[in-house]
Amino acid sequence: MNYLTNEKLVIVGAGGMIGSNMVQTALTLGLTPNICLYDIYEPGVHGVFDEMEQCAFPGANLSYTVDPAEAFTGAKYIISSGGAPRKEGMTREDLLKGNCKIAADFGENIKKYCPDVKHVVVIFNPADVTALTALIHSGLKPNQLTSLAALDSTRLQQALAHEFGVQQDKVTGAHTYGGHGEQMAVFASQVKVDGKPLSEMGLSAERWEEIKHHTVQGGSNIIKLRGRSSFQSPAYNAVKMIEAAMGGEKFTLPAGCYVNDEKLGFKNVMMAMPTTIDATGVHYSEPTGTPEEMASLQASYEHLCKMREEIISLDIVPAVADWKKDNANL
Ligand SMILES: NC(=O)c1ccc[n+]([C@@H]2O[C@H](COP(=O)([O-])OP(=O)(O)OC[C@H]3O[C@@H](n4cnc5c(N)ncnc54)[C@H](O)[C@@H]3O)[C@@H](O)[C@H]2O)c1
Repeated sequence: MNYLTNEKLVIVGAGGMIGSNMVQTALTLGLTPNICLYDIYEPGVHGVFDEMEQCAFPGANLSYTVDPAEAFTGAKYIISSGGAPRKEGMTREDLLKGNCKIAADFGENIKKYCPDVKHVVVIFNPADVTALTALIHSGLKPNQLTSLAALDSTRLQQALAHEFGVQQDKVTGAHTYGGHGEQMAVFASQVKVDGKPLSEMGLSAERWEEIKHHTVQGGSNIIKLRGRSSFQSPAYNAVKMIEAAMGGEKFTLPAGCYVNDEKLGFKNVMMAMPTTIDATGVHYSEPTGTPEEMASLQASYEHLCKMREEIISLDIVPAVADWKKDNANL
């Protein structure tokens, strides 16, 4: 089997639903044979390891551990879903305190054991804030760490494809920006359906509001239907993000990335932007939209700032002015 690279990929939270699916997806897509499965729960990660070996992927060289030193040492790529998932009735923000503490330790482990890691993808929620925490503590450059935000866009794309009865990939430009929580900004103005602008498709304002609501509630709908938080779609998209960072197919769905941009007026947050991930990391461009869309992005940004202030007040990260002490790249 041909692999994209031989460099070490670490899957954090590999004993869980997203993590175990990521191991399988990374091997199925032929990313690298060298994958280390890390979790704090030994029986879970041990079981996933056994199952993955029993798939018998040609050339695979898997290992598992509950020791962070063993897991992170030599890592060149990391994806982490290692945190608590939400249950029915919870918002992503309800996970903030516990998961951000985990994110701080995660960042410290990167700094200590693999400061020369090339790219890190953070999945565990609230992903924009856990990723920001991990970035500050890791010492990495902003373009080396992204968070999974793409599912909000794929949910919008799916809803519009059903609405117009077209194949899903015929809907382009269906993007959400800003936070990955319920304050996400859903953009319509760049959407095309089979090449035709959405504005010419005769969609009523009421129906658009319903589709927007469905997009924002997309994650909760999966919890209602399946009795647990989504795992196949996050696993697939996060692995596609790391594949792009390894030099594979570029990833062009919105990713959460660090933004500190005077011109745009977005300062010191991680948020979903129009992005491309390639072997040089993540690169963002300026979102374009109607004044209403830009206002909703501004509101989403302000919500992210509030969550940032919350983790500062909890002492999980220092005040913004002191970030450079932990991470000279910020
Ligand atoms: N960003 C997104 O789009 C998105 C989508 C779905 C779920 N999520 C989030 O992903 C996370 C994982 O979801 P899941 O369904 O795989 O949950 P899960 O409970 O099945 O798996 C989580 C795993 O992480 C492990 N873990 C917990 N703390 C850890 C730590 N400190 N270090 C290493 N491993 C640790 C657990 O032992 C468990 O095996 C949740 O926070 C969930 O909300 C994000």
